[in-house]
Amino acid sequence: MKPMLCGYLLVSIFPFCSAEIYRAKAERIMTETPLIDGHNDLPWQLLKKFNNRLSVAPANLTLLNDTHTNIPKLQSGHVGGQFWAAYVPCDTQNKDAVKRTLEQIDVIHRMCEKYPEAFACVTSSTGIEDAFLAKKVASLIGVEGGHSLDSSLGALRMFYRLGVRYMTLTHSCNTPWVDNWLVDTDQEQPVHNGLSQFGKRVVWEMNRLGMLVDLAHVSVQTMEDALEVSKAPVIFSHSSAYELCRNRRNVPDDILRRVNQKGGLVMVNFYNMYVSCNEAAANLSQVADHLDHIKKVAGSAAVGFGGDYDGVSTETLARPPGRRWRGLQGLRAALLPRSWLLSLGEERFPPHQAPVRAPPALEPGMGQLLVRDSLSQEPPDDEPIAYEELEGQCRTSYGYPSRASASPPSMLPAALIVPLLYSLLL
Ligand SMILES: *[C@@H]1O[C@H](CO)[C@@H](O)[C@H](O)[C@H]1NC(C)=O
Ligand SMILES: *[C@@H]1O[C@H](CO)[C@@H](O)[C@H](O)[C@H]1NC(C)=O
Ligand SMILES: *[C@@H]1O[C@H](CO)[C@@H](O)[C@H](O)[C@H]1NC(C)=O
Ligand SMILES: [Zn+2]
Repeated sequence: MKPMLCGYLLVSIFPFCSAEIYRAKAERIMTETPLIDGHNDLPWQLLKKFNNRLSVAPANLTLLNDTHTNIPKLQSGHVGGQFWAAYVPCDTQNKDAVKRTLEQIDVIHRMCEKYPEAFACVTSSTGIEDAFLAKKVASLIGVEGGHSLDSSLGALRMFYRLGVRYMTLTHSCNTPWVDNWLVDTDQEQPVHNGLSQFGKRVVWEMNRLGMLVDLAHVSVQTMEDALEVSKAPVIFSHSSAYELCRNRRNVPDDILRRVNQKGGLVMVNFYNMYVSCNEAAANLSQVADHLDHIKKVAGSAAVGFGGDYDGVSTETLARPPGRRWRGLQGLRAALLPRSWLLSLGEERFPPHQAPVRAPPALEPGMGQLLVRDSLSQEPPDDEPIAYEELEGQCRTSYGYPSRASASPPSMLPAALIVPLLYSLLL
């Protein structure tokens, strides 16, 4: 049956009629208002499958069929903007994390260059709007994990220049300046109890640059510290509501209340272990429950999408039934019966006024940009992390006082150290 044959009166009699009407309506909204997804790990799949070689035939992003994401799916799902994750795992920490992160940023830029009809790499909300008007997926970059910086503010500033517009403070490891979510499980011990003093300076430098602070993957204490010290609103690029699924990757209610006061975005993850806390596939109605909950506690301006497609290996992410409803488009349709996302897409931004403007909270930069502008007279923070706070063996100490580059005391024979200590004490 075609949508036009389904009248509103018939909706209650034929449930599939209501489904058709909602689908058509969702489709229309999504052609008028760009939907921005906070997290997609396709670049990581490109590394794993092709060692980032986009030139080999099987890496054709139109034909790719064993990933959650490809160009036809993004297009039929009407994805308006996508934050692509420049992610490298925590075992690169203190090794080649910076080099590998640069390579993931590079592969995202190359995606945009190789498929200019599908993607436009952008760094601002104006860029998102232009890409949306040109019917391209506005492509943004988020670095997933503070270990990618190797504790260097210089590296952070260069990431910004390369187009990075959010950074997740850490992934599933503590860094020399921030604790991760695993310290809230029994798997790891807290080291910094949130952000160290240097960690707070990382957040301030991000504020000054205009890079969004992402609190997915961090410990609750880190969330609290970042909400306290960040001058700009924060985001959760791919986290759901802890109240509905008690996984520590999710956001507890008291944090949602602080997001409500401070402003910010909680972009809901579709992974079943964060949606239903169940091995079985989650469904979109359960994802919508998370959006409802976040709206109730953090406010409607705080609600976003962060599907985490291609970030988890399972096939149990929430997905719409059938082949026609894809991902985010299907989710909007699932939300329409709840009659609130409609107001975001239609009432607040009537087509004749601003047809393609994203809801303000979805614009990376809103609030963030105001803060950046207010800090534009501030100089860059050029005080490096204390050498003692670094970890690992494969670093030189150029620039630090020579004390740091001298052989560590453990190299001295114990027989020498003990008299030394005595002489100091006397
Ligand atoms: C990908 O495959 C499609 C369909 O065969 C083809 O038209 C397109 O040129 C290919 N793209 C690239 C970048 O090779
Ligand atoms: C998936 O793509 C590969 C490589 O392009 C192709 O050989 C295969 O037939 C495709 N599978 C399906 C189910 O389309
Ligand atoms: C989604 O899954 C839940 C839990 O299994 C179930 O109760 C609900 O009916 C499902 N909803 C839809 C629309 O399939
Ligand atoms: Zn993640």
